[in-house]
Amino acid sequence: MQQVPYMKNFNIKVLAPENWALYKSVRLESLRDSPDSFGATYEQESALSDSDWQARLDLSARGLVAFPLVAEQGGRAVGLAWGVIHATEVETAHIYQMWVSPAARGKGIAKALLDEIKTWAIDKECDCLALDVTTSNEAAVCLYRSSGFMAMGPPVPLRRDSFLMMQPMEMALHSVAESTF
Ligand SMILES: CC(C)(COP(=O)(O)OP(=O)(O)OC[C@H]1O[C@@H](n2cnc3c(N)ncnc32)[C@H](O)[C@@H]1OP(=O)(O)O)[C@@H](O)C(=O)NCCC(=O)NCCS
Repeated sequence: MQQVPYMKNFNIKVLAPENWALYKSVRLESLRDSPDSFGATYEQESALSDSDWQARLDLSARGLVAFPLVAEQGGRAVGLAWGVIHATEVETAHIYQMWVSPAARGKGIAKALLDEIKTWAIDKECDCLALDVTTSNEAAVCLYRSSGFMAMGPPVPLRRDSFLMMQPMEMALHSVAESTF
């Protein structure tokens, strides 16, 4: 895995295809811990085969432009987030699967994951970061608002049969070159 060094007591790494078992374990932990934060469910994803998990991280085979990140602390995976640029909307980088384990929260790990995805998206010449957040998820709403995201459009149901609502949020990105003028 390519490692991003931090002054803090955690590291952020880019997940490579061979890290699929680590990815599977942290993603399933996130779905078990925070069922109201994600459109997908633990039941759905725990039914995936190991080859499905391997295929998810095989970005070139999927033709997917993505930046899957894991945060590690003391040798344990404690955080996850993906940046994804869909071919149909190359000016926007979407953030998915953001999660930090309960014991590691409040230490800046989510903010660091966001910053890494923001830097990657600017490097990919995106002009916008976008995500959906459950409206009742105070911690995540505060995280995104304090990072510069703004609500965009009306909330939509988390899942087809869910009473929980997701608020689309976006943040404009400005390249260093643009911001000097
Ligand atoms: C939301 C979540 C990712 C935040 O992770 P974290 O590593 O604890 O967040 P950080 O420590 O980087 O916090 C960054 C900022 O977010 C906000 N924030 C984080 N947790 C907060 C809380 N419990 N209450 C209010 N604001 C909070 C603050 O503005 C904070 O900045 P500050 O510490 O300078 O005040 C984490 O609580 C989580 O994984 N929750 C369950 C899954 C989830 O909701 N994922 C988001 C899906 S959209």
